[in-house]
Amino acid sequence: MESSDRVSVSAVTALFLHHMFIHLMLSYEAHFAEQPQLICSHQPNIAQPGDDVILSCRLDPPISASSETVEWTRPGLDPEYVHVHQDGRLLHQIQNPSYSRRTRLFVDELEHGNVSMKIFKVKLSDEGTYRCFIPSVQKEASVQLLVGSVSVTVIEETSGESGEVVLDCKSKGWYPEPEVLWLDGEGNLLSAGPTETVRGPDDLYTVSSRVTVEKRHSNSFTCRVQQNKTNQTRERTIYLLDEITVATGVPAHWIVLTVITVFILLFLIFACLMKRKQ
Ligand SMILES: *[C@@H]1O[C@H](CO)[C@@H](O)[C@H](O)[C@H]1NC(C)=O
Ligand SMILES: *[C@@H]1O[C@H](CO)[C@@H](O)[C@H](O)[C@H]1NC(C)=O
Ligand SMILES: *[C@@H]1O[C@H](CO)[C@@H](O)[C@H](O)[C@H]1NC(C)=O
Repeated sequence: MESSDRVSVSAVTALFLHHMFIHLMLSYEAHFAEQPQLICSHQPNIAQPGDDVILSCRLDPPISASSETVEWTRPGLDPEYVHVHQDGRLLHQIQNPSYSRRTRLFVDELEHGNVSMKIFKVKLSDEGTYRCFIPSVQKEASVQLLVGSVSVTVIEETSGESGEVVLDCKSKGWYPEPEVLWLDGEGNLLSAGPTETVRGPDDLYTVSSRVTVEKRHSNSFTCRVQQNKTNQTRERTIYLLDEITVATGVPAHWIVLTVITVFILLFLIFACLMKRKQ
């Protein structure tokens, strides 16, 4: 009798603890379901003036933001509102005029928690830190936009050997680290020395690469810098002056143009003379 009582007491206690545990688990999950995280891309977005760019942010877990207010701002701007989405549409009245008709959220994506903002025809003045804020969940996160910071320069250096030229390509303002390729005028890959990489205090990478080429083979060379993950490519082509040019000091295309012009003039004079004779 006594022992069976003890058994039932411990069974009840176990059941109670089990229920408590389930209850705690459920409220823990409920708590986190109500408190999604707002996650924005950590990598700075790099764009050239005129590009369209997507500043990427999403709610995790992907709860719907369709009926929420989504505020995109740029702290320090006056007014700071870049795009405020409320009651399913953009609030035009408070939008900073420099972003007028240049922003959009993806309305179909909002229900999957994707609150990314697209900026069309990026300007140099768009560069900065953008803040995304969702008041209903009191969550905010930032994403950085760099505009026109990527440059590629190629310089020609003289080489000791005749007919050989050393080309030096340098490109700044990258994130993440890009790769550098050299191509000749026909688009063939050239083998270059190792790429030198330096990371600046702003976290951006500067890369440089040198290649030795023979003028005889081609007279245009392209340095292509690319980042596959962010799908960014920048390139610069250098046209080497050929022998005629070096000899006369006049660029080759001027010579060609002059010859063509003289021919056209001669033809016109000839045509006029023929007409007069008739
Ligand atoms: C959000 O939607 C846009 C447009 O469809 C897409 O380009 C972007 O990758 C999406 N972002 C996320 C985090 O899913
Ligand atoms: C990047 O993409 C190009 C072209 O698609 C490819 O040739 C190259 O190997 C890729 N580089 C890396 C590091 O994946
Ligand atoms: C990368 O860019 C090229 C050309 O701009 C485009 O064709 C390609 O679809 C892009 N790839 C991705 C993954 O965005």
